Amino acid sequence: MAGEKKIETTGLIGWIDARFPLTSTWKAHVSEYYAPKNFNFWYIFGSLALLVLVIQIVTGIFLVMHYKPDAQQAFQSVEYIMREVPGGWLIRYMHSTGASMFFVVVYLHMLRGLFYGSYRKPRELVWIFGVAIFLCLMAEAFMGYLLPWGQMSYWGAQVIVNLFSAIPLIGPDLAIWIRGDYVVSDATLNRFFALHVVAIPLVLIGLVVAHIVALHEVGSNNPDGVEIKEKKDKYGVPLDGIPFHPYYTVHDVFGTAMFLIVFAAIVFFAPEMGGFFLEFNNYLPADPLKTPAHIAPVWYFTPFYSMLRAITDDFTWVLAGLSVIAAIALLVRSNLRGLWRIAVPVILVLLAISLRIFDAKFWGVVAMGGAVVLLFFLPWLDTSPVKSIRYRPGWHKVLYGIFIVSFLVLGYLGTQPPSPVFNLMSQIGTLIYLGFFLLMPVWSRRGTFKPVPERVTYKAH
Ligand code: HEM
Repeated sequence: MAGEKKIETTGLIGWIDARFPLTSTWKAHVSEYYAPKNFNFWYIFGSLALLVLVIQIVTGIFLVMHYKPDAQQAFQSVEYIMREVPGGWLIRYMHSTGASMFFVVVYLHMLRGLFYGSYRKPRELVWIFGVAIFLCLMAEAFMGYLLPWGQMSYWGAQVIVNLFSAIPLIGPDLAIWIRGDYVVSDATLNRFFALHVVAIPLVLIGLVVAHIVALHEVGSNNPDGVEIKEKKDKYGVPLDGIPFHPYYTVHDVFGTAMFLIVFAAIVFFAPEMGGFFLEFNNYLPADPLKTPAHIAPVWYFTPFYSMLRAITDDFTWVLAGLSVIAAIALLVRSNLRGLWRIAVPVILVLLAISLRIFDAKFWGVVAMGGAVVLLFFLPWLDTSPVKSIRYRPGWHKVLYGIFIVSFLVLGYLGTQPPSPVFNLMSQIGTLIYLGFFLLMPVWSRRGTFKPVPERVTYKAH
């Protein structure tokens, strides 16, 4: 019962509690953490992301026992793990499947946040830590992909590191500094190994802890977007809250079981997933003298890769037009307050485009990077009077639908070789993605919103 302070003073637990906040932490974060009673299926992905993180760390430790971070031996050592190390194939397939499933789970987790406005006040920091986690995950996956030293590992890294050379002035030197060489080489493999195995996982774990601590400070959102802490009983327990344990531990155990069935089915029956999880070209050892005809990153990067490829010299004008519209809309909304803070960067960008100071590759990198960086600002871009999609106008739902479909189409296009039609489609998709966020301050507050109930809506079954 909340309000009662029943802390063990005897036995082992009592001994520990006198020296370490074991019971109080358990209570604060599990048995007396009051979560909204109307969580649905979408609330499973946070704990699944934690599960996949653990799977990746444990299988990663075993892989490192046999893997050799050396350009001469890396490919062979992975083959050795697959063929000779007892259970090595299982550990490797769990790790490679885990990488893709991490992104499946995290994309769905982010989508839930988008649907229910979980990034809005007071959860801005929860979201910001989340986007930082997403960036770290991308870096972690990118560096991990170089390690098997296959053709796609090698050429994918070559393409992506080369992007840094598009940065004006410092770009070419920066690319050499990242690689540690003029091309991707043994030096690159060694540093990517160090970053993949030690540095980024440490940052990732730190960010995940911060993410959950921030969430528990403000409390969970829910599908109605109602703040349950606003209505409490005399013990200070939210009227619409239920203890995380046992109610949501059971929910999460069930979700975990379902997830593991799917995970095992992939690991045992389709670990390559038709070339989406493990690309066919990566079964060939890296050959610095032979560029594959078609270089594509793994599926989870392809929406952003499509945006990179979509930017041509002409298309930069379309994007500039979008930025001008977004800037004007922002200015009108703020009654021209902060005019120069918005107008100056826009004018500089327009000048840079018209004078062709930077090439299309540079703008491609800006669009791709901007697509992720924009997510950090989501809590302030969305100005809708309600949080949850449930109470938004119908046409908002249509916009969300168009956004999701175009993101999936961008993902597909990124796996395909470029063609004029596909390039046009990528440009439309890029425009939809960027327009969705940049124009959000304007569209998110428009339309007829449904009244948000005082208490969460929940029917026990
Ligand atoms: C390793 C990756 C991640 C882990 C382990 C993780 C873990 C969690 C957990 C355990 C929760 C509470 C349970 C739940 O609401 O599902 C949560 C909530 C949340 N996460 Fe994450 N997360 C990760 C990545 C992200 C990312 C990439 C974002 C967004 C960019 C994000 C945004 C959020 C938000 C907004 C909430 C609060 C949701 C609500 O209360 O409605 N998370 N996360």
